[in-house]
Amino acid sequence: MALLEVDNLGISFGGLCAVNEFHLQIEKGCLYGLIGPNGAGKTTVFNLLTGVYKPDSGIIKLDGENMVGKKTIDINKSGIARTFQNIRIFKELTVLDNVKVGLHNHHKYTTLEGIFRLPKYFKVEKEMDAKAMELLRVFGLEDEAETLASNLPYGKQRKLEIARALATEPKLLLLDEPAAGMNPNETKELMDTIRFVRDEFDMTILLIEHDMKLVSGICEKLTVLNFGEVLTEGKTSDVLNDPEVIKAYLGE
Ligand SMILES: Nc1ncnc2c1ncn2[C@@H]1O[C@H](COP(=O)(O)OP(=O)(O)O)[C@@H](O)[C@H]1O
Ligand SMILES: [Mg+2]
Repeated sequence: MALLEVDNLGISFGGLCAVNEFHLQIEKGCLYGLIGPNGAGKTTVFNLLTGVYKPDSGIIKLDGENMVGKKTIDINKSGIARTFQNIRIFKELTVLDNVKVGLHNHHKYTTLEGIFRLPKYFKVEKEMDAKAMELLRVFGLEDEAETLASNLPYGKQRKLEIARALATEPKLLLLDEPAAGMNPNETKELMDTIRFVRDEFDMTILLIEHDMKLVSGICEKLTVLNFGEVLTEGKTSDVLNDPEVIKAYLGE
């Protein structure tokens, strides 16, 4: 059984059919790319997977569990975490506290223990600090743990957003154009980090990208979306050599 199973997924906005009969199967541990030109419906797929939009039709299953109709927060608790095309971090919090926000989604002490600062609260807080620092180290952000997130350079803010998503201990990590706005050096470093996260955490990752070159280097499988529909899917090398893809996607 695939970790993520999506079939016949669709949504329209007014008269516009943004996603139509979309399907996707992702095996555990796969680094999977969802590509397509701007406006193809990629972000809408993420919004459907995370419960931001309710689909008009279709099924979404994570580890066999139905996700359709669940609230965003419950979908996150079931194991889907995401980043956004337009970066979303808590700019007024420190880098460390941003990651701890993700960890708090899974906190192990009761509200009363928190309010009265009972021993369990301190123990859990300490564990969270250690876990958050571990994640910051993966992303090379440990020296900036106490820096305000707004003071980080853009490339590092993007990394922080991924670290925070990982803090919720997802089964599936969705990254929406994580390299958007990065320079070539930052992009290369980020791609190395994404590969490392997959290998080290045995993470399953679905990566949205409009730049084909970028995903071809790291994704094992691709789905190409065009005008809201799956144009083709399969092993990256097969997809990139598909004349249909070259014609429709590259306009060649
Ligand atoms: N909330 C919405 N209301 C109306 N139209 C939307 C909404 N969200 C997305 N769309 C439309 O759906 C299409 C796909 O958008 P999107 O998923 O953002 O594309 P991509 O991420 O591939 O660039 C676009 O035409 C966009 O304008
Ligand atoms: Mg998008």
